[in-house]
Amino acid sequence: MSSSVLARMPRRMLVTSALPYANGPIHIGHLVEYIQTDIWVRTMRMHGHEVYYVCADDTHGTPIMLRAQLEGINPRQLIQRVWHEHKRDFDYFGISFDNYYSTDSDENRVLSESIFNSLHSCGLIAVRDIEQAYDPTKKMFLPDRFIKGNCPRCNAKDQYGDNCEVCGSTYQTTELVKPYSVLSGVTPVKKASTHYFFKLSDPRCETFLRGWVRRLAQREATNKMREWLGEDDNTKLSDWDISRDAPYFGFEIPGAAGKYFYVWLDAPVGYYASFKNLCDQRGLDFDEWVRPGSTTEQYHFIGKDILYFHTLFWLAMLKFSGYRTPTNIFAHGFLTVDGKKMSKSRGTFINTNSYITTGLDPQWLRYYFATKLNSTMEDIDLNFDDFQARVNSDLLGKYVNIASRTASFLVKRFNACVLDSAMNHQLLVQLRVALPTIAAHYESREYSHALRQVMVLADAINVYIDEAKPWIQAKDPNNSAALHKTCSISLEGFRLLTLALKPVLPKLAESVETFLSIEPLKWSDITVSLSSMKPIRPYQNLMQRVNQGQIDTLLSINQQST
Ligand code: MSP
Ligand code: ZN
Repeated sequence: MSSSVLARMPRRMLVTSALPYANGPIHIGHLVEYIQTDIWVRTMRMHGHEVYYVCADDTHGTPIMLRAQLEGINPRQLIQRVWHEHKRDFDYFGISFDNYYSTDSDENRVLSESIFNSLHSCGLIAVRDIEQAYDPTKKMFLPDRFIKGNCPRCNAKDQYGDNCEVCGSTYQTTELVKPYSVLSGVTPVKKASTHYFFKLSDPRCETFLRGWVRRLAQREATNKMREWLGEDDNTKLSDWDISRDAPYFGFEIPGAAGKYFYVWLDAPVGYYASFKNLCDQRGLDFDEWVRPGSTTEQYHFIGKDILYFHTLFWLAMLKFSGYRTPTNIFAHGFLTVDGKKMSKSRGTFINTNSYITTGLDPQWLRYYFATKLNSTMEDIDLNFDDFQARVNSDLLGKYVNIASRTASFLVKRFNACVLDSAMNHQLLVQLRVALPTIAAHYESREYSHALRQVMVLADAINVYIDEAKPWIQAKDPNNSAALHKTCSISLEGFRLLTLALKPVLPKLAESVETFLSIEPLKWSDITVSLSSMKPIRPYQNLMQRVNQGQIDTLLSINQQST
């Protein structure tokens, strides 16, 4: 079958982004992922494929329980409030989830329990006693991040359980000198308790994962997974501790009073729970999508920090509880600001809400991230001078400028209608030929390539306008036909550029669709053109320029809020 035939076959796909923790706000680092996924999902929808994009808040675990205690509310009140905050942020950035749910749902409880039961019946759950650090005054076991002490190497005070921020050495939490509980300040004691384990060390898991690794799309991810599977040095996978003792905010394990599923057990199941909830709303057959051998596709977009959980635990959980496994898992790198980790003290730990309240256009950030994103796990950097220059020069200077320079002539002089005979001009043919490649770049997550090509085409249209000089053509009544042609070609070029930018700038594309009196653009609209039968509307400003003052405000708000 030729690839052009394949491209026309509607595909059915379930797409997810990682579920953000409900114990904190969405920040611009998170947005890299949701924007990356959203652009991909919109690209697929524009092909006419059947796409469902689901996500949820990740609501369970110790930090959420403690955060609620600190605020004097119960965890459910906390996660409800945070859900609304997260949803507001995602809506503002145009993240087009079909369902945004919560891991604290009935669907998730039922699915998590049934997956656990299936793993149990095929002999992949072990139960054994282990010793862990325990806070005797708070009467709870302490996750590593709740224990501090002196560095065993340089003796620096107040270092976390696993690495020293002063000398940079790494070690085990048990090696800390004078350890204390961050919650109460007392010295933790060792205490034994019964835990449940997912037996990842079972040869069945290793065999399955070694076979699956070939499907991963990214070389760096494949290498990582091979390293974890010990393909070079024969290290064995360790069993995974999937239970936590009360007090814990999460799902109690069936038949094990006082034991809860560790948050990372029910979190990925939350993808399916959100989708199940959507299926029930829309009358879709959930089982058909998740059964082994299903012809539907399933993609998970994640950050590189959680690759381990997805490529080992989630895959094995699915496989051995009788579900299909994903078609692929796509990992991205981390956001840095000015080449450094986001930092509260420098004001570069930027909360989405501060971006909203400062009144910055969400499409600027969507565009900027897209110009930086590719299919690898490399980190991407945000530099605000570059941000301002990119948006102003590409979007305003190159793209919007095409419409603002030519639309008013068409409206004033030619009844707002294009010249049909100009629609096959060489320049437009060039654009139509380039568009499928641009769509393909989006599909392979090479957004920076896609946008570089779009801007080359925008340059070509601007060169055409500069040479035709419509502002001079407009002065001579004998040049009326030439002016009509110039403006028609420019606006059809603008329509095609809008199509190419639509996955990244959906809001702007919508304004353009209204302005040009056309139906919502999709990839197949490469083959049609503007028509003299449909007059366009008067041009209205499509986008503001970024100004330095707004960026200064944004950075200062984030500095103050620490
Ligand atoms: N709750 C888990 C995911 C569970 S998925 C079953 C989690 N939450 S998170 O809020 O910490 O992160 C959510 C996503 O945002 C992750 O994929 C993470 O990699 C991504 N990012 C968080 N900070 C980021 C940057 N600074 N840069 C890029 N992505 C970042 O992990
Ligand atoms: Zn040290």
